[in-house]
Amino acid sequence: MRLLFVCLGNICRSPTAEAVMRHLLVEEGLADAVEIDSAGTGDWHVGHAPDQRSTGAASGRGIELSGQARQVTPGDIEAFDLILAMDRSNHDDLLALAPDEGARERVRLLREYDREAVATGELEVPDPYYGGDDGFEDVLDLVTRACEGLLEAEIRPRVS
Ligand code: 4NP
Repeated sequence: MRLLFVCLGNICRSPTAEAVMRHLLVEEGLADAVEIDSAGTGDWHVGHAPDQRSTGAASGRGIELSGQARQVTPGDIEAFDLILAMDRSNHDDLLALAPDEGARERVRLLREYDREAVATGELEVPDPYYGGDDGFEDVLDLVTRACEGLLEAEIRPRVS
């Protein structure tokens, strides 16, 4: 199974989600069953490492961020089983790249997998880039809950 996490810059939220999901899968012994990547809808940070504020916040929880930012391509929508957007703007941009209904079906908001978020209707992972350190901790909390839901809803049923 292949999962792609997508935000705007691919230096804060999506590399965090990628690392949190990978960490969870290692803990569950499922790392070999799932391929994970992340990308950004924008191209400003292509080639850059994750933002140091994201790296620092994740490292405080024993999670290591890695990779270099890249921009999402139409081919990604074909190649990945699920494309998980951090906010509605990312989601809209991904839908615009999707060639057909089947591809559009694979584009989701990550927080659709967090029951609490569905109950409140707060389905976005807010962009922390221009805010303070709290925003980066918040991203970790939100993506961790959603990745746990994603594991139960989509990954476990397909790999076990
Ligand atoms: P991300 O955060 O989408 O979570 O990687 C951002 C990074 C950079 C910018 C915006 C959001 N930017 O405007 O450069």
